[in-house]
Amino acid sequence: MNIIFLGPPGAGKGTQAKQICEKLNIPQISTGDMLRAAIANQTETGLKAKTYMDAGQLVPDEVVIAIVKERLAEDDCQGGYILDGFPRTVEQAEALSGIAKIDAVVDLAVADEVLVKRLSGRRVCPQCGAPYHVDYLGDVTTCKVDGTTLIQRDDDKAETVLNRLTVYHAKTAPLIDFYQKAGLLRSVNAADAPEAVTAAVLAALEASR
Ligand code: AP5
Repeated sequence: MNIIFLGPPGAGKGTQAKQICEKLNIPQISTGDMLRAAIANQTETGLKAKTYMDAGQLVPDEVVIAIVKERLAEDDCQGGYILDGFPRTVEQAEALSGIAKIDAVVDLAVADEVLVKRLSGRRVCPQCGAPYHVDYLGDVTTCKVDGTTLIQRDDDKAETVLNRLTVYHAKTAPLIDFYQKAGLLRSVNAADAPEAVTAAVLAALEASR
């Protein structure tokens, strides 16, 4: 299945994509992770993206559409995938329609107050992108997958988080209506515990088959 995970910053798209991709044995295509890798490798795309990401703004559509198009053409995407964080604008959604046939769009819905708490307490592995939260880490400071020291993302600082939420409501939330009209949208309450959200997402995907 070709799946989109919609939802505001901090809704749990990355957390859920990791679980579901493992269960369905399909790749997770995270534009945020791809852009952060491009910044770390100092590529031309990374240099273009950095200023926007640091400010909590969206990277220009043409930059993101180009990297997704290239990624979806790779062999491992031919049996299905989860798009995590793409599309984020109507322009991106329209471009995607010309590249791929989408089978299901899962909207992970969470109230803004919860998102601010999740994002300000998030720590991530800079190596594999696995997300953690300080509330559950205790004394642990390294990634359980690869042992790398966890970091706080630059765009998880308080003022940038609020900016990202404003951008989400203005530019990305209209996609809920876009995909509702296309008959592809499944909404899931993502304020529940992670395991409950995973079960709800799997049920939503089953209903889309
Ligand atoms: P990106 O990396 O995609 O960030 P985002 O969409 O803002 O999403 P996040 O990664 O912040 O949150 P998430 O929903 O994945 O939540 P997570 O699972 O980590 O994008 C970053 C930037 O790149 C953008 O701002 C933009 O500049 C640029 N960009 C990316 N894609 C773009 C595009 N298509 N177009 C233009 N620009 C683009 O969980 C968050 C925290 O909550 C974690 O600590 C986690 O442990 C915890 N948590 C998760 N689920 C639960 C739960 N159920 N209960 C309690 N805690 C939970």
